[in-house]
Amino acid sequence: MRYKAIVTGGAGFIGSHLVDRLVSQDFEVMVIDNLSTGLQENLNKEAKFLNKDLRDNDIEAIIESYSPEYIFHLAAQIDVRKSLKDPIWDENINIEGTLNLLNAASNAKVKKLIFSSTGGAIYGEARNAKEDRLPCPLSPYGVAKLACEHYLRVYSQWKDLSFTVLRYGNVYGPRQDPFGEAGVIAIFSRQLILGQKPVLYGYGRMIRDYVYVADVVEANIRALERGNGEIYNIGAGKATSVNDIFGLLRNISGNNIEPELKEAREGETLEVWLNSQKAFRELGWKPEVSLEDGLKRTYNWFKEHNSYGTK
Ligand SMILES: NC(=O)c1ccc[n+]([C@@H]2O[C@H](COP(=O)([O-])OP(=O)(O)OC[C@H]3O[C@@H](n4cnc5c(N)ncnc54)[C@H](O)[C@@H]3O)[C@@H](O)[C@H]2O)c1
Repeated sequence: MRYKAIVTGGAGFIGSHLVDRLVSQDFEVMVIDNLSTGLQENLNKEAKFLNKDLRDNDIEAIIESYSPEYIFHLAAQIDVRKSLKDPIWDENINIEGTLNLLNAASNAKVKKLIFSSTGGAIYGEARNAKEDRLPCPLSPYGVAKLACEHYLRVYSQWKDLSFTVLRYGNVYGPRQDPFGEAGVIAIFSRQLILGQKPVLYGYGRMIRDYVYVADVVEANIRALERGNGEIYNIGAGKATSVNDIFGLLRNISGNNIEPELKEAREGETLEVWLNSQKAFRELGWKPEVSLEDGLKRTYNWFKEHNSYGTK
């Protein structure tokens, strides 16, 4: 049987890689994306594309008539700093957009909805965080993602909607926006290629858990059949500083630019990294791409696509 899947946010960074993988596995795929940060050039030609906002009134009718078995929900505004400047705008996209989708998914009786959540912005300051740690988001973006996780639990009890939540670390790889505020690896790669001076906030001491995009796609695929009603961290389980990232990328580039060091910005977590043992035990998932290898792949991709991005 050929399964149908909808990928919301399928023109974006992670979503477009997931669409490529689903198409390669012979899924029939429909992308719903309003191209607010996603790009037309990321779209897989084999997938059907609907340029639509998740909050639109006809989403329910569209999903019901397409009748997918699976929905991967990645569409979101992902800018933590914008969420601090305008929490209502963030809530409107990330919560109301998700609720519109959950109503549609429940009515269409999908087999499962797989939700892209965040490990980086839900726990607050946390070392080796496990899923049962009490969440303490430090930004409206994190609060909204956590709220969506709770809505999913409620919809599963109330409307029988099956779901799996994946809480990612800092995802990186080809097609990440090098003009965004979050993807330091994309941002530094572009700047090193152009010979520009990168700024390292938090004096480069901020600690994150970096996970390569192909590994995140694999976690989504594994969640198709397993992990019903569960939440999983999807990270490398390693504490890596921005200074480490910059040093490794600078070596790969062969450049010797000195970065500018600045204090941490508002709302940014100083240290967060994840324990992903539950995903290993229950989904059989572990990261396969080492940081060194992932950084090389990403840097080389940006070198070959030097005009890529939203600007
Ligand atoms: N990149 C990371 O490190 C990371 C970490 C944790 C969680 N996530 C989550 O993964 C998902 C994908 O993130 P990404 O890095 O690929 O970001 P992205 O900005 O590249 O992708 C998001 C996509 O959603 C689309 N979109 C936004 N609002 C929409 C709306 N109202 N209706 C329809 N489409 C809309 C955008 O156009 C874009 O294509 C997001 O839910 C994000 O919160 C990402």
